[in-house]
Amino acid sequence: MKTSLTTELPGKLIAVEGLDGSGKSTQLYLLKRWLELRGLKVYFTEWNSSVIVKKATSKGKKRQLLTPTTFSLIHSADLADRYERQILPLLKAGYLVLCDRYVYTAFARDAVRGCSRTWLRNLYGFARHPDLTLFFDTPLSVALSRILSGRPQLKYHEAGMDLGLANDPYQSFRLFQERIYNEYLGMRDEFSFVTIDGSVSIEEQQIKVREIVGQSFDLPIYRWKTVK
Ligand SMILES: Nc1ncnc2c1ncn2[C@@H]1O[C@H](COP(=O)(O)OP(=O)(O)O)[C@@H](O)[C@H]1O
Ligand SMILES: [Mg+2]
Repeated sequence: MKTSLTTELPGKLIAVEGLDGSGKSTQLYLLKRWLELRGLKVYFTEWNSSVIVKKATSKGKKRQLLTPTTFSLIHSADLADRYERQILPLLKAGYLVLCDRYVYTAFARDAVRGCSRTWLRNLYGFARHPDLTLFFDTPLSVALSRILSGRPQLKYHEAGMDLGLANDPYQSFRLFQERIYNEYLGMRDEFSFVTIDGSVSIEEQQIKVREIVGQSFDLPIYRWKTVK
């Protein structure tokens, strides 16, 4: 039987969202270690990591075959695979499921690519909303300097080159990220994001993250049961 999207499940879904370079992965990793060391059932999953969708994604991206619609559909299939085979079963099994990026990444990026916001919300209609979404709010300049300081090779889609905003990948990346940031700000209230100041130190942010998670959930409930 299908579980309704609003049925309360034994586990909890926690997602992090924000610009590239806003510190999401750093903070989620530290949170994961903290929860694990407290003996809690934790599962981590990240955006665009489904093994079965991987080939289509990389082939489509490499050959620049994707339109905004097919790009979005592929990412949706990626989440659907992880959602149905991992996220949902583990929520039912009482895990704290940690998602490094979730549907809001698609809502932001794909809206910037020109997909209809309503279409996107329907496309991802199979996925329940997180019990807690932490939005790492970092000024664009800070996020950009963290990412661009090493002058990395930006991938075509990562830089938003498919939007034709600029010929220079770095300039394109800046313009793309600025638009994504505005999309995130527009979703903040709609989806009850809890905002973390992503511009302060890693330690200060982690203190805040732990405080919010500790206040939001009764953590001892998620402990592994010891079998006698
Ligand atoms: N609070 C912070 N202050 C300075 N640098 C940071 C901070 N948080 C993360 N970083 C660094 O910025 C880069 C991007 O961080 P990361 O956690 O990978 O961001 P995201 O997952 O949001 O793209 C990494 O090199 C990381 O070490
Ligand atoms: Mg990351």
